[in-house]
Amino acid sequence: MATSLIILAAGKGTRMQSDLPKVLHKVAGAPLLIHAMSSAAALEPEKTVVVTGHSADLVEAAARGWSDAVDVVLQAEQLGTGHAVLQAKDALSGFDGDAIVLYGDTPFIRPETLEAMIDARAAHDIVVLGFEAADPGRYGRLVVEGDALQKIVEFKDADAQERAIPLCNSGVICAKADVLFDLLDAVGNDNAAGEYYLTDIVGIARGKGLSATVVRCDEAETMGINSRAELATAEATFQARARAEAMANGVTLHAPETVYFSHDTFIGADTVIEPNVVFAPGVTIENGAQIRAFSHLEGCHVSRGGVVGPYARLRPGTELAEDVKIGNFVEVKNAVLDTGAKVNHLSYIGDAHVGARSNIGAGTITCNYDGVFKHKTTIGRDVFVGSNTMLVAPVTLGDESMTATGTIVTRDVPEGDMAVARARQENKAGFARRMFEKLKAKRAKATKET
Ligand code: UD1
Ligand code: CA
Repeated sequence: MATSLIILAAGKGTRMQSDLPKVLHKVAGAPLLIHAMSSAAALEPEKTVVVTGHSADLVEAAARGWSDAVDVVLQAEQLGTGHAVLQAKDALSGFDGDAIVLYGDTPFIRPETLEAMIDARAAHDIVVLGFEAADPGRYGRLVVEGDALQKIVEFKDADAQERAIPLCNSGVICAKADVLFDLLDAVGNDNAAGEYYLTDIVGIARGKGLSATVVRCDEAETMGINSRAELATAEATFQARARAEAMANGVTLHAPETVYFSHDTFIGADTVIEPNVVFAPGVTIENGAQIRAFSHLEGCHVSRGGVVGPYARLRPGTELAEDVKIGNFVEVKNAVLDTGAKVNHLSYIGDAHVGARSNIGAGTITCNYDGVFKHKTTIGRDVFVGSNTMLVAPVTLGDESMTATGTIVTRDVPEGDMAVARARQENKAGFARRMFEKLKAKRAKATKET
């Protein structure tokens, strides 16, 4: 049966103390909302409906930025989770399959868990994701009898006996979409919070002879973010998981706790990662590369055998072919380096193409920006760029060409030629010695006088 998602993201998140809506705060470089949407994407949902409210325009833009196939509906007033889900009714009219309700502030639900819920749906009308909480606190409680879920009681409305139940509601619910909306039409707001509770559908369904059950997951999966402290905990949880996963996949981490991954980092086996490396979003590394200490990578691709760092910065649009070496204090942006190219020290390579096996000397800069426009530097194969060359783009160095150290290149260099553009050296015979003697005499006179 087809599946659709309803993602609740209307809340403000007052405890974040932020102008940004809660679901747009980031973990591992991606908004919480995107974590929720992408783990559920494994179900290949027919439709994804995001319910917005606070800062609706920002939340909508983030959702559409992730996939332009999402439906976005507005919940103008936040009257409760049941009311929020009802806002998706029109967007799902005519959809004849299961709907799964997820929260935009709950980033770690695993796809396998959602699949288990779908499986359980085959035998029950409603499936609720529950967990045994270490501290059940103010979570809604699941009242079960054997396999059957009888009802969900919100903490505020629960009696002492119900509050003693350790099994809690995660908020994730799965039911056939038309059944879900029919049940929600019957939900009122006569409760302690004066809200339309999504959770009430379970009791209503049971009263109508429908069945409900619970799928259980680990508490870590259902962690919702309500404060900056919880955001930091979520980040730590994500990083711990990403480090363990990388090592399980064959990546060596010399000091795992100092390496930071993004939600989409991909690293091949037999890659070695030294301490204090940050992978910002959009990085892919092929097998057998080496990322040395204190490097920062973002939006880039490193091929087999590549060596990056120590102290390197790869910015978006960097494409390194096999066996490329990027050394210390080198910044690369929007540049393609072909097989075996080397930029070993203290250089800036931006908006450029560097051909195979070319060597870029220390202190080389592609002067790519004229204050208004960006320009491209093209370097052929087997080129030797002398140290401290300024490449004033747009400019091209032909294959097997060369630049002399200290050259400012303002015109193209043909294949096989060498460019020299610097003042010719003159040696003044004995000048230095005479100068030193004069200065030392002056110093001797000055110390005597004081
Ligand atoms: C809810 C559940 C509770 C469960 C807990 C798990 C209900 C009534 N209660 O309680 O059983 O244990 O989650 O964390 O469902 N939202 C909207 N519009 C609204 C109200 C909420 O979009 O009108 C969104 C919020 O932004 C949030 C989510 O729904 O992402 C949950 O709402 P929240 O108010 O945090 O529910 P809880 O009281 O925590
Ligand atoms: Ca909550």
